[in-house]
Order: sequence, then structure tokens, then C-alpha cells
Amino acid sequence: MTFKGKRSAMPQQRLRRVTSVFLVCVVMTMYNVLTMDGPYVITIRLPQLYPWANLSMCAPRMLIKQTANTTAVSDLMDIDEILPGFPKEIDDIMYNGTRLQAPPREILSVLDTIDRTWKFKPDAAEELRSALEGNLSTINMYIVTQNNTPKDTPMKLAAERHIEYKLSAVVAGRQPARSPFSYKQYKTCNIVGSSGLLRGSKCGREINSGEFIIRFNMPPIAEAYKEDIGVRTHLVTCNSLTVHEEYQDIRSMHWLRIFRNSIIRNKYGKSMIFTMPFNVRWNIRRLIWFQTAVPKARVPNRVVFNHPHHKIAAEKFWNDRGLDEKSFSSGFYMISSALSFCEKITVYGFWPFNLDRSGNPLSYHYSQTGPKDGGVNNTWHRMDREFVKLIELYKEGVIKLVTSPCIQHKNTSDVR
Ligand SMILES: *[C@@H]1O[C@H](CO)[C@@H](O)[C@H](O)[C@H]1NC(C)=O
Ligand SMILES: *[C@@H]1O[C@H](CO)[C@@H](O)[C@H](O)[C@H]1NC(C)=O
Ligand SMILES: *[C@@H]1O[C@H](CO)[C@@H](O)[C@H](O)[C@H]1NC(C)=O
Ligand SMILES: *[C@@H]1O[C@H](CO)[C@@H](O)[C@H](O)[C@H]1NC(C)=O
Ligand SMILES: *[C@@H]1O[C@H](CO)[C@@H](O)[C@H](O)[C@H]1NC(C)=O
Ligand SMILES: *[C@@H]1O[C@H](CO)[C@@H](O)[C@H](O)[C@H]1NC(C)=O
Repeated sequence: MTFKGKRSAMPQQRLRRVTSVFLVCVVMTMYNVLTMDGPYVITIRLPQLYPWANLSMCAPRMLIKQTANTTAVSDLMDIDEILPGFPKEIDDIMYNGTRLQAPPREILSVLDTIDRTWKFKPDAAEELRSALEGNLSTINMYIVTQNNTPKDTPMKLAAERHIEYKLSAVVAGRQPARSPFSYKQYKTCNIVGSSGLLRGSKCGREINSGEFIIRFNMPPIAEAYKEDIGVRTHLVTCNSLTVHEEYQDIRSMHWLRIFRNSIIRNKYGKSMIFTMPFNVRWNIRRLIWFQTAVPKARVPNRVVFNHPHHKIAAEKFWNDRGLDEKSFSSGFYMISSALSFCEKITVYGFWPFNLDRSGNPLSYHYSQTGPKDGGVNNTWHRMDREFVKLIELYKEGVIKLVTSPCIQHKNTSDVR
């Protein structure tokens, strides 16, 4: 009321100010419209993420080829050829539809034996590496690049192979020009799963000492876990469910800021963010948005896309070697791919059971107190079968598989 008299004193100035604010808004909106795919909307109604979620009770049967006639298995396959030297009980995991909650005694004793005598065998690693690279060309094909996928090149989706997807010119133009990977690029890679097994492991120092460190699904790197999981990261995977739950409407400033804070809080540094949009059609749009939005968060990270043809070839490669599974976990797939760009791989935090090696109960993830989606019962993957494969690679000296606390390792190396 006291301002009543002054109001007419500066209408000109106020009009100019309002106009400039308005113009800034128009320019920013134009910017958003021009740099986004499609029309810019504040609230985005996302399509249902997993329309088949209600079918999860029968998914294992759909996804994993079960041998209906179990008595016939031993006639059909020469088990020794597939897993030479393992007790029958371990082989059974590969063919048994029942999932084990606790690690069988045989696995524990095999691990004990290998732990005691394990040595990296460069020849064995090289043999598998060159077979993998020869069949899959991981170096060039692991991720989508402008080089391997020009616009309008049809790509089969990895889990829905009857569907073809073509990148638009705009999306193709956002892919890296060349593959960031080269053969045996890194001397040592530490691949860090998120199993509850890592809690209290004191493996942090060992993990940090690797040249290239890979983690899965944007895991929390909090001070509280530092001693067990380390802090460095160079490549981190992110699946579409995480984008959906943690960063929701990633195209809005609010959620982009939440994303930026999580990158900083978890010290991901310049990590490459690895995603798999071309598995099933429901993930594509969300992850393309994710790739578009991330540079706007003013973080150095970039999102790359897994090439579905590489995944299809990798699944075939391992299927031929007895991993009878239709859908890989990103963990096993990453280890198999990393063999091409890493010389020595050490794997931490991979463990498909609910009890650790001493029989103590575990949470599925190191950062959570109870089981969430549960590795053992995971509908989409047979972690136990993959784990048997990992033990096999461990036994052959191709990878080092750490499943016990790191205290002893540290002590023995310190003593020398
Ligand atoms: C599952 O089905 C119930 C009713 O049968 C429905 O309310 C729910 O939205 C469905 N959930 C999903 C993810 O489709
Ligand atoms: C399982 O395989 C055996 C031997 O091949 C055969 O005799 C038997 O009929 C099969 N059982 C079923 C249920 O298919
Ligand atoms: C599968 O494993 C369960 C639990 O260990 C066992 O009871 C069952 O006999 C096994 N089935 C076959 C066909 O081996
Ligand atoms: C593909 O893998 C097989 C083994 O499964 C190997 O014999 C073959 O040499 C590989 N191909 C190439 C081109 O390296
Ligand atoms: C997995 O399923 C089994 C039996 O269906 C159940 O006893 C167990 O508690 C489940 N484990 C988890 C981690 O959900
Ligand atoms: C390391 O080993 C020494 C003996 O060699 C032992 O006294 C010490 O307790 C061990 N430390 C840890 C942390 O295990």
C-alpha cells in the first residue's frame, strides 16, 4: 500500500525487466526443445517398465532352458568334457532346476583347494582371450560407436531377436566415434560385484590398487564401506530399472541434479556409464534419454550403449561351453568381455548364495540389510550356473576369484 505512489514511477524499468526474464525463458525453452528428442515436457508419463513383471513367477521356465527329462541328461552330455575335474555335485548345479541357498560342501572344498594353489596362467588366459576376441570382436563391437553402427543400421535386440531397431541420425551422432577399448589395454582390472560377501572383507586396498576398476549398477561408494570395497571406479554399469527408480524423470532439472549429486557422492569421477538399451524394447527410450541428459548434468561421465549383436554372440559362445542360460547377468557378461581389454582380471563380490564360506548369512548387496531381489532366486539369471563357470575360469588360472576376506592375502604379501 505504501508502494502505491511509486508504482507509476518506474513502469518502463519494470517492463524491461519482465520482458528480459520472459525472453530468457523463451530462449531456454527453445534450447530444451532443440536439444531433446521430441517435444519437451515437464512431466513425462513413462510407459510401464516391465509389462511382463506379473509373469515373474513363471519367468525362470521361460528364460532358462530346462531339461525336462533329467534322467536323460547324463546320457546326452559328457559332463567331464564341459567341467573337467569337478565333483558331480557341482556339475549338477548346471542342470538342476532347484536353486541352492547355501554353497554346497563340494564348492567350498574346491574353492579352498584352488585358493591355496592359485596362480595366474597367462597361456590359459590368452587362449580364452583370443578365442573370445576372434568370435566376438569385443574391442570393436562391445559398445555402439559411429563406426560400427551408422544411422539406420538395423540392430537385432539381444533378448527379442525378432525385433530390429535402427538408430536415428541424431542418436547415432551422439555415440562415440570409435571404440574406447583396445586389446589388453589394461594390465590389471578389478571387477567388483556388489555381493554382501564384501562387507567386512577389507578388500578395499586391494581393489583400489587395480589399473581399471569396474562396478555394477551405480553402487553406493560410501565412507562406511571404503575399507571393504575401495573408492576408485572407471566403468560403472547402470540398468534401466535404476534409471527408472533412482533418477526417474532424468530429463527434468530436479532429477538431473539428483543424478549429478549421486555421481559426486559416489566418487565415480570420469567413469564411463555402461548401459544395455537394446536388450528388450521397453528399455530403449529411457536409456536414450539418459544418454542425452547426462551431459547436461555438467559431469564428465558419458553413457555408452552395449551393442546387442556382441551380447548375442557372447551368449552363443558361452552356450556352446555349457552355460545353458538365455540371459546373462551383466556381471558374467562384463567379465567375459573384459578378458579382451584386460590382461589380469580379479573378481570381487561375486557370490550367488545366501551364506558365506563360513556359513554366516549374507545380504544380497553389501549396502543392504535384508535380501532385496535376491541373487539366488533372481528370476532373470542363473547366478549359480554362472558362478560354476567362474570357478572353472579360476581353476584354470584365467581369472582370480576372491571369495574370502582379503586380510590373509594382505598379511602374506606383507610378510614377504
Ligand atoms: C499385476 O497385476 C495386478 C492385478 O492382477 C495389477 O494391479 C498390477 O498393476 C500388475 N502389475 C504390473 C507390474 O503389471
Ligand atoms: C526320459 O528319457 C528316457 C530315456 O531316453 C525315456 O525312456 C523316458 O520315457 C523319458 N521320460 C519322459 C517323461 O520323457
Ligand atoms: C536337484 O537338487 C535338489 C537339492 O539339492 C535335490 O534334492 C534334487 O534331487 C536334485 N535333482 C536332480 C535331478 O539332481
Ligand atoms: C571361435 O571360438 C572357437 C572355440 O570355440 C575357436 O576354435 C575359434 O578359433 C574361434 N574363432 C576365431 C576366429 O578365433
Ligand atoms: C528363495 O526361494 C526359496 C524357496 O523358494 C526361499 O526359501 C528363500 O528364502 C528365497 N531366498 C531369497 C533370498 O529370497
Ligand atoms: C599377520 O600375520 C602375523 C604372523 O605372521 C600375525 O601375528 C598377525 O596377527 C596377522 N595379522 C592379521 C591382520 O591377520
